[in-house]
Amino acid sequence: MKSKTIFKKIRCPCCFNRLRFKSNQLFCKNNHKFSFKNNIPSLIAENDVEFLNIWEERAKVNSVSVAPVESKKYNLLGSLARRELIKIILPRTSGNSIVEVGCGKGQFLQVLEKINRYDEIWGVDYSYQMLLNNTFKSQKARMDAHNLAFADKSFDISLMITVLMHNRSISNIVKELTRISKKYIILQEGDSTLIPRYFHKKHIFIRDIKYYEKEFSKYGWSLIYNYKRRALPLNFVVKNLTGLTFLISSLSWMVFKKNE
Ligand SMILES: C[S@@+](CC[C@H](N)C(=O)[O-])C[C@H]1O[C@@H](n2cnc3c(N)ncnc32)[C@H](O)[C@@H]1O
Ligand SMILES: [Zn+2]
Repeated sequence: MKSKTIFKKIRCPCCFNRLRFKSNQLFCKNNHKFSFKNNIPSLIAENDVEFLNIWEERAKVNSVSVAPVESKKYNLLGSLARRELIKIILPRTSGNSIVEVGCGKGQFLQVLEKINRYDEIWGVDYSYQMLLNNTFKSQKARMDAHNLAFADKSFDISLMITVLMHNRSISNIVKELTRISKKYIILQEGDSTLIPRYFHKKHIFIRDIKYYEKEFSKYGWSLIYNYKRRALPLNFVVKNLTGLTFLISSLSWMVFKKNE
């Protein structure tokens, strides 16, 4: 991506001013500095990040959520989810620019790149290792979803897949997603009507669809589509590498649209 396009979108996460590039670093006019190594701007304000270490550690292991798309060993649920996104969810939206917030190693971004539908694709995550280890070609940036370093209305579509469930509070994240998005926000999240509450564990927070609806409605966004995966039985239990056990099949897709 041309650096002009990159600089049009990104902002200082501390004071929200524009950024300039000088001596391998990014600067704003208030002299907040950020690194820009391996073509990845690292736009994290100090103390922004919760649970960062968990994800930096997970990035080093070939866990279920981060296996490469092409791998024959790739899990059934990941391929189901990518299929649903392409065949069922994206056709309900329109737009040329898309960002995945919390993209991990980019299993969904690789698919978006293949379908050739978007002129501009970005992937952001607060784990630098996740971004570094991924194989997608789109523009990457290190950001915290609570404080996205993008200008307002930067993307037609924002996508967030199994990220809110790892965040204790989602109100700032919802505020940021609605700020940077022009038309649609797509989520795939644990749904407490599908996953019993007792699966709340450590850093997994399962919420009700009504709760997401209420949060987004504060900013004038409405749920226009909800797809609950029914293909797998509810008791399909996956034990992931951190030792947590949860019902990963019980996820809901939600499409939010900005009210006219
Ligand atoms: C379960 S993984 C999902 C990755 C990817 N969306 C997928 O489905 O393959 C969650 C990802 O969200 C990122 N993440 C969690 N909370 C975040 C936040 N507040 N800001 C940015 N990234 C976050 C983690 O670093 C991790 O890469
Ligand atoms: Zn600044």
